[in-house]
Amino acid sequence: MKVLVTGGAGFIGYHVTKNLQKKGHSVILIDSLITGNEENIPEGVAFYKMDITSPEIETVFIKEEPDIIIHLAAQISVSYSMKNPQEDGKVNIIGTINLLHLSAKYHLKKFIFASSAAVYGTPVRLPIDESHQLMPTSSYGLSKMTSENYIQMYHQSNSLSYTILRFSNVYGPRQTSEGEAGVVSIFLNNAAQDKPIQVFGNGNQTRDFIYVKDVAEACVRALDLGENTTINIGSRTQLSINHLIHTIAKISEKPLSVQFEPAREGDIEHSSLHYSKAREQLDWAPHYTLEQGLREALKEIQRKRRRTHEAGWEKSHSI
Ligand SMILES: NC(=O)c1ccc[n+]([C@@H]2O[C@H](COP(=O)([O-])OP(=O)(O)OC[C@H]3O[C@@H](n4cnc5c(N)ncnc54)[C@H](O)[C@@H]3O)[C@@H](O)[C@H]2O)c1
Repeated sequence: MKVLVTGGAGFIGYHVTKNLQKKGHSVILIDSLITGNEENIPEGVAFYKMDITSPEIETVFIKEEPDIIIHLAAQISVSYSMKNPQEDGKVNIIGTINLLHLSAKYHLKKFIFASSAAVYGTPVRLPIDESHQLMPTSSYGLSKMTSENYIQMYHQSNSLSYTILRFSNVYGPRQTSEGEAGVVSIFLNNAAQDKPIQVFGNGNQTRDFIYVKDVAEACVRALDLGENTTINIGSRTQLSINHLIHTIAKISEKPLSVQFEPAREGDIEHSSLHYSKAREQLDWAPHYTLEQGLREALKEIQRKRRRTHEAGWEKSHSI
C-alpha cells in the first residue's frame, strides 16, 4: 500500500515509517521539520518539506495518490499550547481539517489519527477506557478532541474511514524532550551526562509509559483493522516517576542524583490507559517491558553522544 505519513520526520514518525517499510509498504512523508529532523527520514521514502496547514499539500495528494494517511504531524507541547492556543489550534485543528478535506476529495481508503490520552483530562477512574468522559484540561487536549470530532464528521458526511488512536506517554529512541513522555528523554540524557534529575512533586505521581515501537506497530495494524473506531494505545500500568528513576539507575549501572522541586500546578496525579479494545480490534498488546525500552533508548543516546564527541575530536584535530 502507498501510505502518506504526516509528521514523518518526528520521533514516532520515524518508527512508523521503518515499520511500514519492513512490511513492504511504500511511504511518502510530509513534515515541516519544525521539531522533526532530516536524520529521521529513512532511505527510500519520498519526502515533502511542507506545512500541513498549507494549500500546497494538495500537490502531494495529486502527485503521489496515497491509499491511506497516518496523520502524526502536530504541535505536541502541552505547555506551549497553553501559552499559544491559537498556534496550537492552527496546526492541530486547521492542519487536520486540511488533510481530512483532501483525504475525502481524493477518496483515500482510511485516515489514521494520532490522538492522545490528553483528551480525557483528569481521570475519574483508572485505568481509563475509551468510554471515559472527555474533559481536556489543556488547549492541546482540546485540539486533539476537536480533531477527533472532525474525523467523525467526515466519516458521516463523506464516508471517509478512520481509526483514531489515543496514545499514552510514548518513549524511546529519537525522542525529544517536548512531548508527553519527554520526561523519559530528559532523565536518560541527564543520566548519560551524570547530571542531576529534577522531579516536580514527590515522584509518587504515575504515568502510563508505552514504548514507541509498540505504538508504531499499532499504527501499522490500523491500516487493515480497527475500522471507524477510537482505540487507546497504552500499557495499562501506573508507573511512578520514582520507579522510572530507579529503573534508569539500574540500566545505567550508576546511582542518580535527584532534586525534588514543588509540584507544578495542573499536572495530573495518576494516569493509565486500558488497552483491551486494542487487543480485540487490532490484535495488539504492548510487547516491550519498561526495562527493555529504556535500554534501547539509552543505547541510542550513548551512540549519539559518542558520534558527537568523535566529530568534535576530528574537528579540533583537522588542519
Ligand atoms: N510522544 C508522545 O508521548 C505522544 C503521546 C500522545 C500523542 N502523541 C501524538 O503523536 C504524534 C507524533 O508525536 P511525536 O512525539 O512523534 O512528536 P514529534 O514532534 O517528534 O513529531 C511531530 C512531527 O510533526 C511535524 N510538524 C509539526 N507541525 C507541523 C506542520 N504544521 N506541518 C508539517 N509537519 C509538522 C514536526 O516537524 C515533527 O516532525 C503527534 O500527533 C502527537 O500529538 C504523542
